[in-house]
Amino acid sequence: MTVVKHNILDDIAVIEISNPPVNAISGDVRNGLLRTIEELSSEKKVKAIVITAPDRTFLAGADIKEFGKNIDAPILSDICDKIENLDKIVVASLHGTPLGGGLEVAMSAHYRIAAPKTKVGLPEVLLGILPGAGGTQRLPRLCGVSMALEMMLTGRHVPVEEAFDNGIIDEIATNNKTVENGIAYAKKLIDKGFTVRPTSKITDKINNSKEVKETIEKVKANALKKYKNLFSPHAIIKSVEEGLNLDFSEGIKNERNLFKECIESPQRKGLIHSFFAERAITKIPELKKGKPSELNKIGVIGGGTMGTGISMAAMNAGFEVIMIEQNQEAIKKALDKIDSTYERNVKLGRMTADQKDQIMELFRADTDMSVLQDRDLIIEAVFENMDIKKEVFIKLSELCNKKCILASNTSYLDVNEIAKVVDDPNRVIGLHFFSPANIMKLLEIVVADKTSDDTVATAFMLAKKMRKVPVRSGVCDGFIGNRILSKYLVGTYHMVEDGASPFHIDKVLREFGCAMGVFQVIDLAGGDIGWATRKRKAPFRHKDDRYVEIADRVCERGWFGQKTSKGYYLYGEGVEFLTPNPEIEIICNDERKRVGINPKTFSNEEILDRYIAAMVYEGTKILQEKIAIRPSDIDVVYTNGYGFPKWRGGPMKYADMIGLDKILSNIQKFSEEDKRFWSPPQLLIDLVSKGANFDSLN
Ligand code: CAA
Repeated sequence: MTVVKHNILDDIAVIEISNPPVNAISGDVRNGLLRTIEELSSEKKVKAIVITAPDRTFLAGADIKEFGKNIDAPILSDICDKIENLDKIVVASLHGTPLGGGLEVAMSAHYRIAAPKTKVGLPEVLLGILPGAGGTQRLPRLCGVSMALEMMLTGRHVPVEEAFDNGIIDEIATNNKTVENGIAYAKKLIDKGFTVRPTSKITDKINNSKEVKETIEKVKANALKKYKNLFSPHAIIKSVEEGLNLDFSEGIKNERNLFKECIESPQRKGLIHSFFAERAITKIPELKKGKPSELNKIGVIGGGTMGTGISMAAMNAGFEVIMIEQNQEAIKKALDKIDSTYERNVKLGRMTADQKDQIMELFRADTDMSVLQDRDLIIEAVFENMDIKKEVFIKLSELCNKKCILASNTSYLDVNEIAKVVDDPNRVIGLHFFSPANIMKLLEIVVADKTSDDTVATAFMLAKKMRKVPVRSGVCDGFIGNRILSKYLVGTYHMVEDGASPFHIDKVLREFGCAMGVFQVIDLAGGDIGWATRKRKAPFRHKDDRYVEIADRVCERGWFGQKTSKGYYLYGEGVEFLTPNPEIEIICNDERKRVGINPKTFSNEEILDRYIAAMVYEGTKILQEKIAIRPSDIDVVYTNGYGFPKWRGGPMKYADMIGLDKILSNIQKFSEEDKRFWSPPQLLIDLVSKGANFDSLN
């Protein structure tokens, strides 16, 4: 297939690149582009070359699938240099999302025109690498060091107007006809006598060395805190800083070396795994068959933390929402919560007062469920109790129209059992949002035995409109995320009872890269929530299961974490962040004495080994039982909903990286102490015996 072709129209040559779906710069594209520019360089009559990629988007960057493999020459960086050094005017005509290597090609052209709505960016940092085709050297020359670093450190997609205002784009076209726009712009440049303009020669935005130095020092200081666990942000800053003191060509060489270091870093593997994992989540059987139904009007039952968060997530996506609460007082409380959240956004400049008013118009609340008759979807977010949930679903089944989808936001309960009480269980689904639901990206879509394909397709469409990251889960206690959480929480309490300090455990997890330690999370969510779950599960607990009572002792004192100003840590005005509650160690010691445990010391390594082993153990069982379709879905749940570091890829990818044989041998070792908790899952044994990894199941 010819991925790069060209036409010569009078004195203008037009290059068209076509490599669907996003015109990623693969080996074929690089070869084709190089061959074409070499050919055109000797075409005497050609005065200007226009580079276009007319399909869905201009080049969206290097082909990410090639990273980690041996990349064949030519490399993009050399091609960009060749483009810049051409003695004919080169115009890049942009549309869609010229990102990464795509923007780097564009920046090596002498002029750039972009269609309306184009967004440009250098998002390599999100993949654990740096812009390796001249981006760290050319972008500061076009828009200045401050904006260039901000773009490269966040990976932000910059709207065309902002790119134009800051010198990245030279002209904004009035339409999307990228080939015609490029030709017309090139003609205009020729007619007006413009000549080549190599970006490497533009220095006006980088030659104030004092200002540049100050900017870089500020960014560096901030990056030390903000990206303390990450590799590539520091490499980006280094490449920019060092490049400014080198000849352009030396700066490019230096960038190349730093790029190679990033490519070799395990963080690149983790982040690129996350990129593809997040795109695999919609590859599920139901979406091949199901058709989404129209969604405009949503009902939410319950105005607590989840109900208000879900309502806001729906309103932010433009849905009209009716919330049901039991009385006016509860309605007022919910309304205040929603209003104050948007008010805060106005104060922080995230939205205007008018936008707030428009969004608030989408919301109304009532105590009478019969107003829900015209709804397309109802999401129940009442107290986590099966009887209460069933009561709600019986009422909904009676009063709602026959097309309305009935969803439960339960985080643990059996959606099949809930579905049994309604007339048409095909329309029942679990939509497990994470708190705060208006902010957290993850949405577990829980497919019950009778949920129809159309219902699943509608739920995924809802997620798309809400800009959530949806992951399909089967029905089990806690679904994917909370089921794994339950396992490692129990494992963590085993460690604490055996002698580990909760604060040591949290520190190890934070140092591993987790957003928070386990006990910080408990304090944030509210210790009472776990307590209620433990009580619910108590009758089903096997008599031989090891049950640690430390958490119950904490809850019995009314210490539920942040909401009570006391939990594992202390909270309140003037209290330093992460101040341990000194009474926790006393409770732990008392409990150890009560059950006759002689505390032992835990190394950082053992804490981490046990934490990872428990996660992978339950993740494997979830795969065995087909609750999750693929290991990478579990990774997406953990990196988007539970603060597991994305740069480690997720628990299953991390297990692959450290070796499943190591994980299995740890589990076998731990099972010598506690067979019931640690008996190795068969799937893990099978994978290790075949020398396979979780990736082979993706
Ligand atoms: N390489 C390979 N495949 C890519 C790709 C890339 N750069 N970008 C997207 N794809 C694939 C996706 O995996 C997906 O494949 P499947 O359909 O098989 O799942 C398909 O293209 C469509 O992608 P999306 O579902 O993400 O489509 P979208 O319309 O929602 O978003 C996009 C389009 C904004 C371009 C988004 O795909 C994206 O952000 N891509 C990554 C861009 C990027 O990071 N570029 C920098 C690459 S690194 C680089 O360029 C280094 C350098 O310095 C040379």
